[in-house]
Amino acid sequence: MDFKKELDKKVSEAEQIIRSYLPKEEGLQTTIMEAMNYSVLAGGKRLRPILMLETYRLFGGKDKVIEPFMAAIEMIHTYSLVHDDLPAMDNDLYRRGKKTTHAVYGEAMGILAGDALLNYAFETALTALNMSPSPQVAEALQILAKKAGIYGMIGGQVVDIESERAGSGEKTDDKENLDTILFIHEHKTAAMIESAMGIGAVLAGASELEKEKIEQIASDIGLAFQIRDDILDVTSTTEELGKPVGSDERNQKATYVSLKGLDEAREDVEKISERALGILASLDVSNPFLTQLITALINRKK
Ligand code: IPE
Ligand code: IPE
Ligand code: MG
Ligand code: MG
Ligand code: MG
Repeated sequence: MDFKKELDKKVSEAEQIIRSYLPKEEGLQTTIMEAMNYSVLAGGKRLRPILMLETYRLFGGKDKVIEPFMAAIEMIHTYSLVHDDLPAMDNDLYRRGKKTTHAVYGEAMGILAGDALLNYAFETALTALNMSPSPQVAEALQILAKKAGIYGMIGGQVVDIESERAGSGEKTDDKENLDTILFIHEHKTAAMIESAMGIGAVLAGASELEKEKIEQIASDIGLAFQIRDDILDVTSTTEELGKPVGSDERNQKATYVSLKGLDEAREDVEKISERALGILASLDVSNPFLTQLITALINRKK
């Protein structure tokens, strides 16, 4: 099977698992379930659940215990997008080819839908304890919590917002700017990839050394992924991306492209991804699909 077909199949599989964990739309609070399901089912690459499952398989994982975690990480990721698009944050009206959640349901419901997805993610992930009350599941839950929080994704979003004017060239110290952008990218984006792959490794029983290597690989994938996102914000179209281009410039964001320019940004995506592939190749186990996926992300169009 060629890579594209295999990827489509894996996206549908992940989609089915995610869908099976979404809440029923019922009760007096039904609007919140509708808004949650709208944002999650709008589409998306499902990259984090796929990376989680493929890392789990890399280390021989075969059980269903991975599934609530796959759904949970996509809920947390989607919540982060719903809030990222709010007027007080990036103020964007399109996401995944559709109107953003707050544009459809109003700002208050947008905020609550994000909150609800974050909480429901933990309600979902905790059901893994009913399948297997093991130390591995407890460790996976800790990773899920920490990487999304102030030492992970939220921490990155905080510095992203505080650095908004740095994108206009207000700061002059390039080293300081680069350190700040690396902090932002490593936290707002790489942390969730580290969560996905780390949980896959832990649940499959990977060794300490293997877990360390997965953390480095995921950190590189995440950094390269966000640099590519910064590039696409400049070079792509809203139709292709399914979200507004030019959002970073409008918000005067500090991005990898605003600091280093497009050419260097493109080179760095490749270099950083090659570094991840190198570490992956140094493991005793292999998963050819995972290798192909990391390679395909270098020049992704969306
Ligand atoms: C968007 O993530 C936010 C970033 C971290 C750049 P994705 O590009 O994975 O968005 P979806 O899930 O495919 O919509
Ligand atoms: C957001 O980064 C990363 C998140 C944690 C949501 P961006 O603001 O660049 O993501 P997009 O471009 O809106 O998807
Ligand atoms: Mg943002
Ligand atoms: Mg944004
Ligand atoms: Mg972006």
